[in-house]
Amino acid sequence: MLQTLQPMPIIAPSILAADFANLEREVKLINESEADWIHVDIMDGVFVPNISFGIPVTESINKHATKPLDVHLMIVQPEKYVEAFFKAGAKVISVHIEACPHLHRNIQQIKALGIKAGVAVNPHTPVSQLVDIIADVDLVCLMSVNPGFGGQKFIENTYAKVKEIKSLIKDKKSTALIEIDGGVNTQNAPLLIEAGADVLVAGNFVFSSANPKETIQRLKAL
Ligand code: DX5
Ligand code: ZN
Repeated sequence: MLQTLQPMPIIAPSILAADFANLEREVKLINESEADWIHVDIMDGVFVPNISFGIPVTESINKHATKPLDVHLMIVQPEKYVEAFFKAGAKVISVHIEACPHLHRNIQQIKALGIKAGVAVNPHTPVSQLVDIIADVDLVCLMSVNPGFGGQKFIENTYAKVKEIKSLIKDKKSTALIEIDGGVNTQNAPLLIEAGADVLVAGNFVFSSANPKETIQRLKAL
């Protein structure tokens, strides 16, 4: 299981912040680092006000990756594309609660493929909306910025939300991991881990640093 193989925290560098003209080099950098997963952000220009990349680029990333692809779908009607992203190499797929009127069905669709199913939650969405889905998911991707862009400022209310999700997980006897996505750095990461975070996504903090491998190592050592 993805949960038990890696020592915590699981570090998932976000490829969105990488140099797209040198994707192979950037993926190899993650391979050679202490990172656990590769976070892959898919944006459709409808659910979020930006377009990133899609299935062929995800396949290309997977061709070079030795670590599991953690695919974050910021798209409407994700059920149309879940299988394609699975075939492109995804080992974890998260869909947004705000984009899924039939979330339970969407989660079952992902799990039926034999991979991990995550629910992503926007900063304004109350944790109470997870009550009847938390036992079914492997991961909660808690947005600590508004989805759509890398390099944004971390929203401080995230700490309280992590604690709330952690307590819900306990109450419902869920095995879900809590992933924090957006503005993560070595200042907020220790507080996030203390609050109950299991997985840290980091884009710009890793790729804009002078030594990305060392930055990943610093996050992993927290
Ligand atoms: C935001 C994305 C994040 C982003 C994180 O819409 O979902 O995964 O790549 O990047 P940083 O760490 O730069 O905020
Ligand atoms: Zn993301």
